[in-house]
Amino acid sequence: MKIFLDTANLDEIRQGVALGVVDGVTTNPTLVAKEGKPFREHILQICEVVKDGVVNAEVVSTDTAGMLREAREVATWHPNIVVKVPMTQDGVRALSVLSKEGIRVNITLVFSPTQALLVAKAGAYFVSPFVGRLDDVAQDGLVLLREILEIYRAYNFRTQVLAASLRHPMHVLEAAKMGSHIGTMPFKVFEQLFQHPLTDRGLAGFLKDWEKAREVLGDILEPAATRKAAR
Ligand code: E4P
Repeated sequence: MKIFLDTANLDEIRQGVALGVVDGVTTNPTLVAKEGKPFREHILQICEVVKDGVVNAEVVSTDTAGMLREAREVATWHPNIVVKVPMTQDGVRALSVLSKEGIRVNITLVFSPTQALLVAKAGAYFVSPFVGRLDDVAQDGLVLLREILEIYRAYNFRTQVLAASLRHPMHVLEAAKMGSHIGTMPFKVFEQLFQHPLTDRGLAGFLKDWEKAREVLGDILEPAATRKAAR
């Protein structure tokens, strides 16, 4: 499963990319608004940091003509940009045109498997089911994810499933087990994936034991044997 960071914060993206396991970034109007910088420049800075990874940038028009204008513009900014368009009739109309023009579109705010069926037929590059936001209204978001994957596999749709609104490591684990193509998560959740108390305890034990035998063991970079031989 590819891992995307769901943030527009450059520091977080830099830290994630430096770890070598981040495949892309998703942004939305709320996330970019938080950063308080001009949209185009900020998205281009994210592209620079993410290098070969995909960067998702969302339109804000709600009518098809406006979405088409914004999507065509945003798509020219950088070859790694995927344009996010909301799951509305206007959005799907725009998607049908954009996909034929070769512009990659991520349909966002997907909350039902039938919405996902429609956008796959219209040629979406990514579909973004919002797992956590369904959980928020007492509906199991992971069920939605499973149903979308089942439909897409049944018809060999090429649209990639981008599990979005992942709020904790269990969401990430379940999305990965189901075979989601991508999972996008806040930086905090990404960091949680690294952690395990037994790793910390195990490492502390190894280092303590090494310290006790340090005299005999020597230094990895300057082994005792080498030092003696050199003298
Ligand atoms: C996806 O692209 C969205 O930006 C995101 O996953 C929304 O997550 P939230 O429900 O935690 O805001």
